[in-house]
Amino acid sequence: MKVTVVGAGNVGATCADVLAYREVVNEVILVDIKEGLAEGKALDIWEKAPINVYDTRTVGVSNDYSKTAGSDVVVITSGLPRKPGMSRDDLIETNAGIVKSVTENVIKYSPEAIVIIVSNPLDVMTYQAHLTSKFPRSKVMGMAGILDTARYRAFLAEALNVSPKEIQAVLMGGHGDTMVPLPRYTTVAGIPVTELIDSEKLDAIVQRTKTGGGELVKLMGTSAWYAPGAAAAQMVEAIVKDQRRVFPVCVKLEGEYGIDNCYLGVPVILGKNGIEKVIELELNEDEMAMLKESEGHVREVMSVLDKLNNK
Ligand code: LMR
Repeated sequence: MKVTVVGAGNVGATCADVLAYREVVNEVILVDIKEGLAEGKALDIWEKAPINVYDTRTVGVSNDYSKTAGSDVVVITSGLPRKPGMSRDDLIETNAGIVKSVTENVIKYSPEAIVIIVSNPLDVMTYQAHLTSKFPRSKVMGMAGILDTARYRAFLAEALNVSPKEIQAVLMGGHGDTMVPLPRYTTVAGIPVTELIDSEKLDAIVQRTKTGGGELVKLMGTSAWYAPGAAAAQMVEAIVKDQRRVFPVCVKLEGEYGIDNCYLGVPVILGKNGIEKVIELELNEDEMAMLKESEGHVREVMSVLDKLNNK
């Protein structure tokens, strides 16, 4: 199995590193526009192989997409990260052009690949990749739900002083402040979380999750990378090993949840064909209202993209 990661910045390099040390595939190609960057990072990861004991080959290339030919999965992390004070949506103008040209290059050499978008604004960059590739929705998806759910689970684990392994949760909606964590579908080793934490503390954790990316941008002056890179790698693993794992993933909705032609995070089954199934949960009135609010926000940014593409 061959996986390409486009963008050798912090997120792309972390993703490539996780794919290598977990031996998810035999070969990882890391691509970047900046001469030498991908080659250097891929070589560094390969030189770590004897220490961490893995044999996945990692190869870096500068802008030469012919080396990515025949990739089974391609992860696109290219584009600018946020700076403090910016929203993810502020990146649209620059990142849309980058995601468009990267997607064109990727599909030229890997017309059968499954494409995972990580660039921001996530939901709308997934839309851009879908427009450019014209791939079916099962093969173009965005990584954000695993990341947002991981933040929610980590905060809960800390508050309850339990292992993060015990926290199961679902989170839906766009990758922004309107995302919809679902406490009703959150358990700690099967116990409803609402039995273990008071509603005030839970509300504070939900709120912190929604702005979790921004919290890190404020602390570091740039966007996060360890959890985003690992989350993308987890999606790749589910696909290449046909694990049929259930994750929240950004996908084009085609009527599910009463929403049509909008890119939103929802729980799906991920396997060898990409999105094997979109799972439709029973949402109560409040949860549905929050999902609709998130839909409205993503649609606004989608229409900004439409205008940019029609310029
Ligand atoms: C994240 O959530 O960490 C990413 O979307 C990057 C960002 O700027 O928030």
